Parts: sequence; C-alpha cells; structure tokens
Amino acid sequence: MRKIVVFMVISFLAVWAQATELRSPDGSFRLQVEVKEGVPVYKLDLDGQPVIAESRLGLEIKRLEPLTGGFKLIKVEESAFDETWEPVWGEFKEIRNHYNELAVTLEQEETQRIMVIRFRLFNDGLGFRYEFPEQDNLTYFVVTDEKTEFAMTGNHTAFWIPGDYDTQEYDYTTSRLSEIRNLMEGAITPNASQTPFSETGVQTALMMKTDDGLYINLHEAALVKYSCMHLELDDENMVFEAHLTPDAIGNMAYMQAPTHTPWRTVIAGRDAKDILLSNITLNLNEPCAYNDVSWIKPVKYVGVWWEMITGKSSWAYADLPSVKLGETDYTKVEPNGRHAANTEHVKEYIDFAAEHGFDQVLVEGWNIGWEDWFGKSKDYVFDFLTPYPDFDVDELRDYAKSKGVKLMMHHETSSSVRNYERHMDEAYQFMVDNNYNSVKSGYVGDIIPRGEYHYGQWMVNHYLYAVKKAAEHNIMVNAHEAVRPTGLCRTYPNLIANESARGTEYEAFGGSNPDHTTILPFTRLIGGPMDYTPGIFENDVSKYNPDNNSWVNTTIARQLALYVTMYSPLQMAADLPETYNKYLDAFQFIKDVPVDWDDTKVLEAEPGDYITYARKEKGTGNWFVGRTNDEEPRVSNISFDFLEPGKKYVATIYCDKKNAHYKKNPKAYDIRKYVVTSKSGLSQKCAPGGGYAISLFEVKDKKETKGLKKL
Ligand code: NOJ
Ligand code: CA
Repeated sequence: MRKIVVFMVISFLAVWAQATELRSPDGSFRLQVEVKEGVPVYKLDLDGQPVIAESRLGLEIKRLEPLTGGFKLIKVEESAFDETWEPVWGEFKEIRNHYNELAVTLEQEETQRIMVIRFRLFNDGLGFRYEFPEQDNLTYFVVTDEKTEFAMTGNHTAFWIPGDYDTQEYDYTTSRLSEIRNLMEGAITPNASQTPFSETGVQTALMMKTDDGLYINLHEAALVKYSCMHLELDDENMVFEAHLTPDAIGNMAYMQAPTHTPWRTVIAGRDAKDILLSNITLNLNEPCAYNDVSWIKPVKYVGVWWEMITGKSSWAYADLPSVKLGETDYTKVEPNGRHAANTEHVKEYIDFAAEHGFDQVLVEGWNIGWEDWFGKSKDYVFDFLTPYPDFDVDELRDYAKSKGVKLMMHHETSSSVRNYERHMDEAYQFMVDNNYNSVKSGYVGDIIPRGEYHYGQWMVNHYLYAVKKAAEHNIMVNAHEAVRPTGLCRTYPNLIANESARGTEYEAFGGSNPDHTTILPFTRLIGGPMDYTPGIFENDVSKYNPDNNSWVNTTIARQLALYVTMYSPLQMAADLPETYNKYLDAFQFIKDVPVDWDDTKVLEAEPGDYITYARKEKGTGNWFVGRTNDEEPRVSNISFDFLEPGKKYVATIYCDKKNAHYKKNPKAYDIRKYVVTSKSGLSQKCAPGGGYAISLFEVKDKKETKGLKKL
C-alpha cells in the first residue's frame, strides 16, 4: 500500500528584490538564490555553516545568446511536498520524499527567453535543475556547455576518480582538492577518451570532507535525454563547474522545449552516515512507470564467469583470428578446449545453484562471435541468438526449469550499439521463449557509431531505450559499462543493477585498493545498485590460471560483508563452486543473506576507512550486519539496539581471525555463535583489508539457543 501525504502551499513572492531564500523542512539547510547583475547565483548552508559558497548558474547554447546572464527574476513559486512511497525493491520498505521547493522563473531581457530553475531542499541536501517551458523564442537548441558551479569553501579532502567519457572503472584516490591536478596528470595514463585534468576534472558522485567535519556529496539524479556530468575544478578558487560529455562533433545535448536538464544534487551532513542514508537521488526521480511490477524480482546468482575473468577458461569456442557472423561455420572449426559455456559444465552450475538455493546462473560466452569480440569486424560481431555448437539452448532451458533455477542471459554488445538495437526485439523474444527473465548487458570497447562516447546523450538515450524495451518483455537489465546510475531504478525498477565502477573483476586484472569498498557506497552507490560480484574466497588467482599472478585484496570475512555493505537487489556469488565446496561453513552466510530489505541502519562509517551496515530482511524479522575495512587494522564497536526489544536472536559472526591479513593470511576466519538481544553489543577486531558479517535469526524455539553464550 502506498501512503501519500502531500502538502502544497504555493506562494508568489515579491520579485523586485531579485533575491529569495528557502529552508529545508527541518530548517537545517538554507538556500539563497539571487540574480546578481543579471547572473543567477545560489548558495547553501547547513546550520549556518556554508556548504556551497556563492555559485553561478546557467548554460551556453549554440549560436544563441548564452543563458548565463542578462536575466531578471520574474516569478518565485514556493511549495512543499511530503509523500511516503514504497520501492519495488530496496534498502527500505518505505521512503519519505519530503522537501520544500522553490521555482525561480528568469527572463533573459534581451531575448525574452524563459528559464526556470527549480530547487528542492530536503533535510539531507539539495537538488536543482534547469527547465525550459514552451516559448516562442526557444524551441530547438543545442547545449554547448553547462556553467553550473559548485563553489567549495576550502581545500577539502576528496575521494575521486578522473574524468573520462567512457569509463569509471578506476581505483579511487583520496587527496586534497589542490592535489588532484598533479596526481591525475602524473599517475594516470590517459586512455583514448580521458581528457586532461584541466578539461574534465573528476567524475561524480564525488565525495568530500571538509576540515571541520562536514561531508559533501555532488552528483546528479534522473539523467535522461542529456549527457553525463563531470566536474571541472578551478583549483585556485576551489570552484567546480559542470563539464558535460560531448558527442562526436562536440555538442553536449540536443534539446527541445518544453524540457529540462537532470537534477544536480548536493547531499551534505555532519556525519558520514547521513550521506549513506540519503534518498535524495531516488526521490528526485519520477515514480514507477510500470503498473505491473510483479515480474521484477531481486536475484541471487552464480555464473560461468570468474573462470573466464581469471583466464582459466575462455568465452570463445575456438581460437580464430577473426569471425564473420553467418559465414564462420563453427561445426568445422577446431574447438580450443577451454570454452566454459558448454552444456555439461553449465549443468554443473545449475546443480550447484539448485543445491544452494540460488535463483539464477549467468552464462557468458554462449553465443557465437567471441573469437573477435574486441572487434576488428565488430559492427556485426554478435547476433545474441545463435549458440555455439556445444551450448544446447533447449536442453539447458529444460534442465534449469526442472531444477527450479533460471539461466541469466548475457548480451555483450562490444559497444556496437546500432547492431544491438537492430537485434534487440528478437534477442529479448528469444529470452522469453527460452525462460530467461534477466539480462546482463555489456558495452566493452569504443562506441559504434564512431566518435560517440559511453556517457554522451546518444548513449544515455540508448541505455534507457534498452531498459524500456526489456520491460515490454518483462525482462530485468543489469548493464555493465553503461553510464553510472542516477536513481532511474525508481522509475524503471527492471534496471536491477549496473556495473559502472571498478568491480571485483579488477581483482583478477591486477587488484584494487583495499579501501575500495569503503568508498564505493559514498560514490558509485549514491546513484543506484551495483553488480559488484563479491564472494571471492580464493585470493590467489594463479590457482585458477598459472599465467595470472593477480591477488584479490581482501579477507574471506570481508567478502561476506560486501553482501550487506554493497547494496544491490542483484548479487552474485562470483567464485567457482569447487572453491565454495572447500569453505561451506563460510559460504553459509552467502546462502543466508537476502537481496531485499525492509530497513537499513548505518552503524559506523568513514569514507576510505570503514563502513558497518545493519539491514533487516524483507518480510522477516532477521537482520544482517556487514563491515568492510580498509588496509588498517581496526576495532568495530556496535550496539545491537536496532533489534526488536524483548526478542532473542541467534547471531552467527563470520570474522577475521586475530592473525588475518588481506595479503598475508586472507583465509583466516572464525565463525562464532551467540544469543543476542537489543541490549547486546560487540567489539570486533577487523584485519587489514578485512571485516565481518553477522546473520541474526530471530529465535522461534528455545532449543535453537542451546549451548550458546549471551553476547
Ligand atoms: C566486462 C564486464 O564487466 C564483465 O563482467 C564481462 O564478463 C565482460 N565485459 C565480457 O562481456
Ligand atoms: Ca566492466
């Protein structure tokens, strides 16, 4: 049941002042907006402390007077909104969307063009966007630069990745704003689409901390029909300016009024937990666009995947220099003997999934074309329909069905986007016919048509097109390499997850920083869930592929914690069944942990250092706790006061052993059981690169507590 309470008070304020202000519902935030010598500016403070210093607003448009000056304020509308809505899946059963709104109408005197800037001020931050109502003097226009500023009040500490139009698969750097330029230009090898610091700056969501302990997060919400925003930094004045992703000829966005930009967001709080608990990004998106959502279900899955990522097996059936779709006769070529997506092997995964209660089995490399997937001929490399000769679609469909498991489809597009769009209807219908209801899609490589970028408007439109088309077939989408999410899963909840950051796969490509998962919830996850693919129990990748010396920078206990700390309704147990079979006691946590929640608490949090979450399973009274730790040994102190008073729970704690260490001793874990109540507490050591996970099952029968100590 959706509960909605809405209050709307509209007042038209005096406009001759050319200045106005707004408070958040609880009064803690104050927004000031002014037109200063024709230029719209805003500033934001929290409890009297500046968050954003005076910053300019506006856009430049092709061949027309820039929408950055010459304005007068002609109307100010103030209103309030308060509703509680229920997400289809999520971290909370209900989400409150409570804000005060200010719509500022500006007229450019010389051109009589109208631009509305709509601000929504929540108890945890601000969202604002530019709107262009229908008008005589502005219909079709091309944005050439967005001039939105976010002026910082000092040389804050930032958790950042470099600006890039095609990927965000970077490790984070923690540094002062003033250090970014040197670090970026020195340490990072630019790739084709990564432009220098001076031009693109850094990506969002950008997390920062001020010297007096204020946490600030800059991002965007509802990125639709526009290009992705980076933040250029004027590092003399510590002012960020929006930097949009261009298209092949350098334009940023093609607009047709009435229209608007995405929301620009500023989440801020005195406690790092406030950032993690903010729902601003979801709240600024439109309500669910679908009437029937019964087909959208969270997914826990295993897959024929890590063995290819580590190099143990191959996606390709044969070793051929090139292939031509429809011309290469696979029945006549010599198989390479390492093709993982073969019927017998997939059946083993189906058996494993069925035995341990997983919903789905992802199979990559099932369809022809992988011999050339980096694409010399990639405009037509995949058809998403034709299996390799050793992958029996019918047999596997029936086998999976008989075991109560679904197969998960994989569509690697190799970024040949037109090719994908041409095949999409057939490809989705093929899924429906063969009992698949979710697809992992991928966009590896340069975009075809040439010159477009992964984060440009053209691709932003494509990703959403793919999600909406999938919905017509009741299919859920998990898109890799797509633009980072901006809360669109509220409107289109079949967008079940994205990759769009450096996921676990990089642990097999040389490794990621041990503090990576203490930063991602403050950055990438602000926009939506991630298919991070945790659950790696074998750190030494050479055990799978002697030619790969990568090391997975984590303890086993922390891998368990990630199912709680890296929120997603789509979670993979990514390691190989043969490895899980060696550690079935630890694997039990992955089996127990749910992928959908009624409530979420942040118990401890500091970006770059540690995060401890507690989450309540959807529809039960059970709770799960996860703690991820950076490379320092630390002690976590938590209270179980989130549990229901008067009830008893059996807590199973999966933690690092005393001598555990992500490099030296990653597999040293302990499993301890206790009886726990809301009055209990825990002081738990976490190893470097470690953490812990706890399952808390409500005691239904006294016998369950036999022999267990109270904590
Ligand atoms: C990159 C994706 O992130 C990875 O998960 C996938 O296996 C490969 N592309 C192949 O599609
Ligand atoms: Ca990837």
